[in-house]
Amino acid sequence: MSDHNAVAGLRVAITGGTSGLGLALVRRLSAEGAHLAFIARTTATVERIARESGAHGLVGDIARKEDIHPLCLQILGMLGGLDVLINNASSLGPVPLALLADTQCEELEQALATNLVGPFRLTKALYGALAASAREGRGAVVVNISSDAAVSAYAGWGAYGASKAALRQLTAIWAEEAKGENVRFLSIDPGDMDTPLHAIAVPEADRAALKAPAMAAGEIVESIRDALAGASAATAEVQP
Ligand SMILES: NC(=O)c1ccc[n+]([C@@H]2O[C@H](COP(=O)([O-])OP(=O)(O)OC[C@H]3O[C@@H](n4cnc5c(N)ncnc54)[C@H](OP(=O)(O)O)[C@@H]3O)[C@@H](O)[C@H]2O)c1
Repeated sequence: MSDHNAVAGLRVAITGGTSGLGLALVRRLSAEGAHLAFIARTTATVERIARESGAHGLVGDIARKEDIHPLCLQILGMLGGLDVLINNASSLGPVPLALLADTQCEELEQALATNLVGPFRLTKALYGALAASAREGRGAVVVNISSDAAVSAYAGWGAYGASKAALRQLTAIWAEEAKGENVRFLSIDPGDMDTPLHAIAVPEADRAALKAPAMAAGEIVESIRDALAGASAATAEVQP
């Protein structure tokens, strides 16, 4: 457990900050004094959450190659550098969920573009700023939001599960490669949460049995604190 003030003044970018876990992270980190930029595709929601939270809201689609560099330039311009990147935005692939035999190639491509290639492009574009932050002694952490579908073969979750499994391995390899520069990579499974994504994927779920996104956000912030304090392994795999 590390310094509770470690979050105040941190420069954090979050993808998917207008709903579910991402919104809970925006609220939690803003309340703790972090400097935040968040990304989502829907302009009206981005503007509302930016007004409510005081965070910088950016409209963009992380699955679109053309959006990545403009988003990164805005993030670095607004925050003056970057200490923490949270790759949280996600696509389920086919909705409603479908067996692989019934999944369109384009639906698999969409899940990979959002859940794997988008986080890869963003991390690559922001890596120099993160490494600079580590060199300056501020610390640098990349959090990639995972899922139990990355490791368990659930029927109907093929596109999503394959993309999350690839993201998990990408995180582990990047953690190894970034050790020398003290940029830490965390793969965090937040557990089953009561969010719009879960309601779309499992409409029949008992919502009372699901974790509140605010609770998962608190756990993730704690993992970031530990990573900044050097208390967690560089390749940490955080389970719910
Ligand atoms: N909910 C669960 O039970 C659960 C369990 C395990 C893991 N997870 C993971 O937790 C993370 C958060 O999930 P959630 O349930 O909070 O999802 P959510 O409620 O659907 O929120 C998704 C957020 O991402 C944004 N977004 C989606 N696609 C985007 C794109 N291409 N570019 C930019 N922003 C995009 C959405 O806004 P716009 O639509 O306006 O872009 C929204 O702000 C995901 O990585 C998910 O896989 C969730």
